Amino acid sequence: MRIIRDVAAVRAAVDGAGRVGLVPTMGAFHEGHLSLIRAARESCDLVVVWLFVNPTQFNEASDLANYPRDEERDAALAAECGTDILFAPPVDQVYPAGFATTVSVSGIADVLEGAHRPGHFTGVATVVAKMLNMVGSDVAYFGAKDAQQVAVVRRMVADLDIPVTIDVLPIVREPDGLAMSSRNVRLSADERRRAAALHRGLAAARDAAAAGEQDAGILASIVADELERESITAEYVAVLDPETFEPVASVERPTLIALAARVGPVRLVDNMEVTP
Ligand code: PAF
Repeated sequence: MRIIRDVAAVRAAVDGAGRVGLVPTMGAFHEGHLSLIRAARESCDLVVVWLFVNPTQFNEASDLANYPRDEERDAALAAECGTDILFAPPVDQVYPAGFATTVSVSGIADVLEGAHRPGHFTGVATVVAKMLNMVGSDVAYFGAKDAQQVAVVRRMVADLDIPVTIDVLPIVREPDGLAMSSRNVRLSADERRRAAALHRGLAAARDAAAAGEQDAGILASIVADELERESITAEYVAVLDPETFEPVASVERPTLIALAARVGPVRLVDNMEVTP
């Protein structure tokens, strides 16, 4: 595996390499990231892992400052999973002096995470547009945990005619159901135990929907009640159309329940598809 830090070198490496798979990450790898790298390895000739803690998508300085970073560990894990190139550019490669262009997706990026984290999706869309242009991959792999990010990226790729396929892999969970996230390492032992309520709540709503409950308000309150039992207050619990992210009042077809909640100092997101 090569570690590359500049755009010219990554373009030269990708040129003529066949089917190129890109795995966008901010590092601090867990099984969720590794599942994306393995999927890319299975279906691509060249696997490029993007490793860049993108400052423009953090709306809280403390979240950026505390974001876990360990390039040496990440590089070892990426190599084990068959990565060919770890592309880890410095900030001034991505945002050189005079940088003045942003990509902002309206509508779908304005609700939920967009409403609670102003500027977040402009930061994400801009850096994803940049990495897709820099690498020129055929496929880019994303995890379903950040469901709204996936919807925003799909919208941007369609609107800007970026020639890439977006492949989405299922959420990878801990044995107690907590969705894997780089931020989980910041939970204390007690917060980590309580955080399993996010998945319990979503699973309870999924079971209620499968048993015939269609009312979105009732399903959202099933999730919120489970969180309250662990003294966790949700920032939002939303019952949505999975493609448009418009709220739905009744579950008539596969529907997404998405939530965000702070457990101690750590803000976590999760989601689950429910079917009537
Ligand atoms: O999902 C992430 O890790 C980030 O939002 C991404 C897509 C790598 C952009 O910085």
